[in-house]
Amino acid sequence: MTVTEAINARRSVHSYDTSKSISDKELRELIELSTLAPSSFNLNHWRFITVRSDDGKKRLHAASFDQKHILDASAVLIVLGKIDAHEDVEKFTGDWVNKGYYADEKHLKIVTSKFYGLNPTVQRDEAIRSTSIMIGMMMLAAKERGLDTSAIIGFKPDEVVEAFNIPSNYLPVMLLTVGHELTPPPERVIRLNYDEIVYEETFPVD
Ligand SMILES: Cc1cc2nc3c(=O)[nH]c(=O)nc-3n(C[C@H](O)[C@H](O)[C@H](O)COP(=O)(O)O)c2cc1C
Repeated sequence: MTVTEAINARRSVHSYDTSKSISDKELRELIELSTLAPSSFNLNHWRFITVRSDDGKKRLHAASFDQKHILDASAVLIVLGKIDAHEDVEKFTGDWVNKGYYADEKHLKIVTSKFYGLNPTVQRDEAIRSTSIMIGMMMLAAKERGLDTSAIIGFKPDEVVEAFNIPSNYLPVMLLTVGHELTPPPERVIRLNYDEIVYEETFPVD
């Protein structure tokens, strides 16, 4: 399956085959492949709670306005963004210097502490931004592997945090159901067309 084919084939699936499961190996491969995604300063903001047990799915379902596909999916990933990922910068800077991206580590430490360190809004934005790019890639990687997905933001963050013991420096960015489609979704809903979304060079002035 090409990337173009995966993009065309991907749909948000709400009807999963409950007789099918996803193995540890499949889930691990999906996560390992998807986390080759880019992230700002390569800070790897993403973390995952993998939920496959009936009990875990029930707790998520209760915190997610009873969205039924949470119960039916083979797995639900609680995708977290690490808000203070910039504090991990030293994990990555040595590697960057060794591979010739930067002459020394000082530059990167300054950039990340000045860029993120003092700005909680940018920290939160980044946790969402870098993690969301990875989720988009994960949806396509899943499709290529014969798996279907649906992103979910219809959940109560406080309840998910409480129910899954999530520390305060991690933001539950999105849930992602993963499984095998039972019934194909209806025809894809409309998209805005090119002329409605693209402006050449600058936003038009009235
Ligand atoms: C960030 C995000 C959050 C979403 N949250 C939900 C959700 O809570 N429940 C749901 O059923 N679908 C959810 N969706 C799926 C969208 O409704 C769906 O992508 C959209 O209707 C287009 O349909 P398609 O994905 O099949 O092309 C979400 C999608 C995204 C990208």
